[in-house]
Order: sequence, then C-alpha cells, then structure tokens
Amino acid sequence: MLSISQYREAFLDYLSEKITTKEPVNLYEPITYILNLGGKRLRPVLVLMTTEIFGTSYKKALDAALAIEVFHNFSLVHDDIMDSAPLRRGKETVHERWDLNTGILSGDTMLINAYQLFENYEGPVFKELAQLFTKTAIQVCEGQQYDIDFESREDVEIEDYLKMIEFKTAVLVGASLQMGAIVAGAPEESKKALYEFGRLLGIAFQLQDDYLDAFGDPETFGKQPGGDIIENKKTFLYLTALQEAEKADASQLEHLYSINPSDSIGKIEAVKSIFEQSGTSELTRKEIKKYTKQAFDVLDQIDLPENKKELLRKFGVSLMEREV
Ligand code: IPE
Ligand code: IPE
Ligand code: MG
Ligand code: MG
Ligand code: MG
Repeated sequence: MLSISQYREAFLDYLSEKITTKEPVNLYEPITYILNLGGKRLRPVLVLMTTEIFGTSYKKALDAALAIEVFHNFSLVHDDIMDSAPLRRGKETVHERWDLNTGILSGDTMLINAYQLFENYEGPVFKELAQLFTKTAIQVCEGQQYDIDFESREDVEIEDYLKMIEFKTAVLVGASLQMGAIVAGAPEESKKALYEFGRLLGIAFQLQDDYLDAFGDPETFGKQPGGDIIENKKTFLYLTALQEAEKADASQLEHLYSINPSDSIGKIEAVKSIFEQSGTSELTRKEIKKYTKQAFDVLDQIDLPENKKELLRKFGVSLMEREV
C-alpha cells in the first residue's frame, strides 16, 4: 500500500492527464479551472485507498475516483451559486469569475462527465457503481434543498440539521469508500460497513466545515469568513446556541438571523460572540469527536487486518484536526 500523500499524487497525475480544455472553451475552461484549483482530494483518495485495502491495484479505481471528484466539484460550482459565495479555495468562484450561466452549464457538464467515467467499467461493476452513484447524487440534491429551505425556516431542529448534512455531504464520503470496495470486489458485508464508516466520518466532516466557516483562519480557510452566518445557515452552531445561550442572547441571535445587512462584519462578530459565550463552539468540537469515534467503532468491527484499518483511522484523525 502507498501513503495517503502518494495516493493523492497518483490521483493528481491522472486528473491532469484526463481533464483538458477543449472547444467550446467557455464551457471547458471553468471545468479545468475548478478542478485544478486545489482542494484536499479526500474523496478520490478514499476510493483508491479502499480498493488497495482489499488487495486490488488502485489503478483500477482511478476512473471511479475521478468520477467522485468531478461530481464533488460540480456540486461546489452549483453550491457556490446557491450560497452566493465569492471565494473557493482562496480564488474566485466560477460564477464570479465568469457568470451565472457559465456556472450552471459547466456544472451540468461535470455531472454528466462524472457519469461517463463509469462507462470504463465492465458489466456488473459498472451497474453497481452507477446504482450507488445515482442514489447518492439524488440524496446530495435533497440535502442541498433542505439546506436552502432551512435558511428561511424557524422550526429547524438539530435532528433535521443532522439529516440534512448526512444527505448533502456524508453519503458521498460513504459512497467513496464503498466504490473502492466495489472495484475491488469486496464482500457485501464489508461494502456496507465501509459505507457506514464513511457516512459517520462525513457527518463529523460537515460539522467541522461549519465550525471552520465561523472560526477558521481567514488566511488559510479559502472561503469567505462567516459565509454561513451571512446566509443565515441553520448550522449545529446556530441551533445549539439557541438552546444554550441566555434568553436575551438567544433572542438577539434569532433577530440577527432574520436580517441581511449590507455590512455583514458587525453581524458576524455579534453571532460569533454568542456562539462562544454560550459554550457552543466547545459543544461543536465535542460533537465532531463523537461522530469520529462512532466511525472508528464501526471500523473496529470490520473484518480487515489491523494495519489496513490503521490507515483509515489516521485519515479520520487528520480530518478532525484539519484547519482547511
Ligand atoms: C467542501 O468539501 C464541501 C463540503 C462538503 C463541506 P471539501 O472541504 O472536501 O472541499 P475541497 O475539495 O477540499 O476544496
Ligand atoms: C456543501 O456544503 C455541500 C455540497 C457542496 C453538496 P457547504 O455549502 O457548507 O460547503 P462549502 O462550505 O461551501 O464548501
Ligand atoms: Mg457553500
Ligand atoms: Mg451550501
Ligand atoms: Mg460550509
């Protein structure tokens, strides 16, 4: 087996070989732009790693890994339109650099390209990959719709939030691991268990994303600081603060989430201070640890050699400690 960074390198080589700008340039340039903008490449690395854990060369999984990364980047291009986000990975978002129509159509093309990459697999493997992908992609759209609906709903519960992030984010992480297992022809039981490991890790991952959106270092985070606060996103931070804060602070928080001031700095600072004073940032850190631990408990039960599981555990820990 290779190291996590070696899998990333192998994936990047494949990406630059396969993703090139062709005519019409206005359709394909934004695609090469977003795919070469960097990013952690977590999902493709998980696909490749899982394939090798089951004793098959990662090379067989490169198309599945690329499909997942292209789909992920499609979802980001459209997500940035929906979230009115100006920055992605420290650079202009596609709809800012080009325009809305470009973001829509280049995004659509990427979604179709992702599907196309599964055509490189034979019969039963193709079918299994495509079925998992279809189910997952639809759930991602459902999760994204809940995310948008929640912005203007005032009765969102933590349970609703958890379902929403499971769909918009966690299922794709689970699917990445399961796809690696499918390419390797792993036993049915292992496929399910790896999906579950990824799903739980994915929930922790989105909680961390929400945490960093408010408290990450603006120099390195790469997205607009406080973007979720500007957009009135009903995150774990917000929903927990409503429960934990003093009554006056909770009312103030609700008020802040009902306005959209053109100067957002004051709003962001006021909201963050309520998050901190109410102990919500600490509770969020705890929740991230809780889901990561649940993921590791699932991993412990999987019938695989300890040294292989160790690599996945290391990956999980690095997600929890990430700053980007
Ligand atoms: C961002 O995903 C969108 C979420 C699901 C939180 P990543 O944090 O994996 O984004 P990149 O690809 O590394 O930029
Ligand atoms: C995005 O969640 C999830 C998907 C793209 C499906 P966010 O909106 O929190 O992701 P970022 O923070 O913009 O990366
Ligand atoms: Mg977003
Ligand atoms: Mg979003
Ligand atoms: Mg986010």
